[in-house]
Amino acid sequence: MISRFVLPGLLVMVALAGCRGAESDAPPIHINPNMDWQEKFDPQERNDFFADGRAMRPPVPGTVARGFLRDDTAFHFGRDASGEYSTANPVSITDELMARGQERYEIFCAVCHGSAGDGNGIIMTGNYGYVPAPTYHSEALRAVPDGYLFEVIGNGVRSMPGYAQQIPVADRWAITAYIRALQRSQYAEGTGMASTSLPSAGASSAK
Ligand code: HEC
Repeated sequence: MISRFVLPGLLVMVALAGCRGAESDAPPIHINPNMDWQEKFDPQERNDFFADGRAMRPPVPGTVARGFLRDDTAFHFGRDASGEYSTANPVSITDELMARGQERYEIFCAVCHGSAGDGNGIIMTGNYGYVPAPTYHSEALRAVPDGYLFEVIGNGVRSMPGYAQQIPVADRWAITAYIRALQRSQYAEGTGMASTSLPSAGASSAK
């Protein structure tokens, strides 16, 4: 009968012997290492193989991430190859573009600049202490090139924040086209505008 307990008893003793209760610096036995340990450089590690001593290699100068080649400077930067502002909108002006421009303008710009572009948006008329947004119908802003308006939308100007994060490039051109329409709407001459149906400029009146 005693022998029935010998084998289990021995196993328990062996198992308990494994819990030595002492710390060990030796790594645990790794039965199947596969490729768990390899020669490699950690991030930011030094590597004297390269002249600059960096293991992490910078991209080759001129590298362009796939889909990020922005060689159409007029479209992407509102400037021509020599760095001057584009005088014309690089996208073709269609009904869809104007509708898109109006929609985006009403979302992002009208709160300050007003639906008619006269600078009387709700944030301005509500007297919240914000720097006044200018009217687009001044001589100066009627004279700026399209590329400038495009740039203001993306980068902001003085105390106006930039909207590059919210408004993609194509929409910035749509808004630019819409601002031009707003400007023309305030300076209709003779019957020039009579037959053209402009997008509604909202309730606020022009100065
Ligand atoms: C939060 C309010 C606010 C919003 C929203 C806003 N703007 Fe402005 N904008 C301003 C203010 C303020 C100025 C004047 C900045 C200054 O002179 O310091 C300005 C100036 C401008 C100017 C004149 C730049 C110049 O050279 O005088 C243009 C053009 C313009 N904004 C276009 C836009 C467009 C387009 C949008 C929508 C994408 C927009 N703004 C959204 C507040 C706003």
